[in-house]
Amino acid sequence: MENKEVILSVKNLVKDFPLGQSVKSNLMRAVNDVSFELKKGEALAIVGESGSGKSTGARILTQIYDKTDGEVLFKGQPVDEYIKENGQLEYSRQVQMIFQDPFGSLNPVHTIYHHIARPLLIHNRADKKAIPSLVYDLLELVGLTPVKETAEKYPHELSGGQRQRVAIARAIAVDPDVILADEPISMLDVSVRLGILNLMADLKDKHGISFMYITHDIATARYFAEKTAVMYVGHMVEWGNSDDVTQNPQHPYSKLLLSAVPEVGNAGRRDLEVKKGEIPLWKPSSVGCPFATRCPKATEICTREMPATSQISEQHFVRCHNM
Ligand SMILES: Nc1ncnc2c1ncn2[C@@H]1O[C@H](COP(=O)(O)OP(=O)(O)OP(=O)(O)O)[C@@H](O)[C@H]1O
Ligand SMILES: [Mg+2]
Repeated sequence: MENKEVILSVKNLVKDFPLGQSVKSNLMRAVNDVSFELKKGEALAIVGESGSGKSTGARILTQIYDKTDGEVLFKGQPVDEYIKENGQLEYSRQVQMIFQDPFGSLNPVHTIYHHIARPLLIHNRADKKAIPSLVYDLLELVGLTPVKETAEKYPHELSGGQRQRVAIARAIAVDPDVILADEPISMLDVSVRLGILNLMADLKDKHGISFMYITHDIATARYFAEKTAVMYVGHMVEWGNSDDVTQNPQHPYSKLLLSAVPEVGNAGRRDLEVKKGEIPLWKPSSVGCPFATRCPKATEICTREMPATSQISEQHFVRCHNM
């Protein structure tokens, strides 16, 4: 299982944004020393509260943002080199993104057919004559039947869950290796969330697509993703096999996230009293553990040094001084 091909490899990724416009050197650090691997046919969930740098990480992978520091390798090659050799279009084909708001990502003046046929044409995936049957096959695959009727509709004529299925069909039309799914179910009605997660699970398990699954919800991370990384203020604080991270969380922040999930938050964690400290604005000059301001176990060293990585088991890692 661990010998699967590594598709994306991120090493010590850093992203700074300017804070305001007056002083150029006034920066905030949105992503700080983040490293992970995404393997073929596997899902990595990135879990964390608002502002933890999840979307920024995904935007760097799709080249929407430049990175400040660190390395991103695609199939073993630095992304810039890969693009030089194979072209931006080819990289974009292989690394697709789906978003939280399926309505915002679809064009209201075009039919569903248009949305799915377009990437097939842009990426030269098939002969023009073959496009209709490919579009119908994709609609079938994502569960939007009857396919011909669905193809003729406009985005506003579909439900939120159906629109997200269109966004997924559009992403898989070009046969990508990776889908970066940025909170793909959080705007959907609770009743249709599981259907979308199961569709993504099928694409992963049966079609070998790798997923980066960004979410606030650690319970769905465990349900869908083999691996989970917990982020706090741009830092990865705990990561590994989803089962290990969710059943045996070590970092106080992971414990906090899990204590909010009724079915997995066990009695032993109810005593977790998180301080009402501020969420820090992280700067390149900031030191210490970002969770120290809220951590019930914080000691003096936590405010001075970011903890080194401790290995808990073969596939389970944490950065906390209290290990
Ligand atoms: N283009 C930008 N310019 C300046 N700051 C930005 C920019 N994009 C993101 N940030 C800042 O970087 C930090 C991380 O943002 P990001 O959108 O990655 O968080 P997130 O984890 O995806 O949050 P959410 O769960 O709310 O989507 C935030 O403090 C945000 O304000
Ligand atoms: Mg986000």
